[in-house]
Amino acid sequence: MSQENSIPLRKDAPIGVFDSGMGGLTVAREIMRQIPNEKIIYFGDTARLPYGSKSQETVTRFSRQIVRFLRTFQVKTIVVACNTASAYALDELEQESDIPIIGVVKPGAKTAAEVTRNGRVGVIATEATIGSQIYTKYIQELNKDVAIYGKACPLFVPLVEEGLWEDPVTDEIAKRYLTELIDIDIDALILGCTHYPLIRSTLGRIMGEKVTLVNPAYETARELREMLQDKGLLNDVPPKLGENQYQFYVSDGADKFKHFANSIIKYGVLSAKIINIEQY
Ligand code: DGL
Repeated sequence: MSQENSIPLRKDAPIGVFDSGMGGLTVAREIMRQIPNEKIIYFGDTARLPYGSKSQETVTRFSRQIVRFLRTFQVKTIVVACNTASAYALDELEQESDIPIIGVVKPGAKTAAEVTRNGRVGVIATEATIGSQIYTKYIQELNKDVAIYGKACPLFVPLVEEGLWEDPVTDEIAKRYLTELIDIDIDALILGCTHYPLIRSTLGRIMGEKVTLVNPAYETARELREMLQDKGLLNDVPPKLGENQYQFYVSDGADKFKHFANSIIKYGVLSAKIINIEQY
């Protein structure tokens, strides 16, 4: 970590959370549930998604711009809510930063390594995340005897964004994607993409009861809470009445974002503002 900024971090400072778009709201939602005093500045890069089919160089450049944007709010930490950005850019972002930055991949990998009994773990994610082998790397650092089977599921993101969370089309596609993981007899499945927790019940039904679904969004919020606690940065003061606790920014399509966000976050998304991320 570089030490350019010696101003101490404040407990009541917001947490920056970003994703390629709306999917990272599954992570924001977990943070809201698990650490309800925290303020959140969320950025969804809706103009430039999907990240899952882009190169590492491009995703890293985008992520750096977003970090610069979030830092204008004096955030105390940043959560890279996107699996693809965590896979491709987290190491660089961490090295360049003087505030803690956490991604969603390590917490999910850690839980999977803990819950598997037969040492066979499946990972479903974007093409980029699967191609990066990042889950394999982290899980095998923890336990080299675990075998990891990755499967890219590129159709899940558009299905979720179309609202087809419980739908025969999603069922059919999920069966096609998951059959090979069922055949391999995995007993834990990492939902390695922001959108997948929203079709969790479909995935659970197809995989069957013997397979534990690991939701990195949940595990990340847990790890974030622990990290803030360890560093004395957990906000112990509840938000004041009328305070804008959660702020949402996007690079395009604010209305669509708002609509989607309101369908998954019960706190109500007051507004989503468009910003020009290219200027950061
Ligand atoms: N947020 C991305 C992820 O978790 C999925 C959507 C995209 O490809 O941009 O990998």
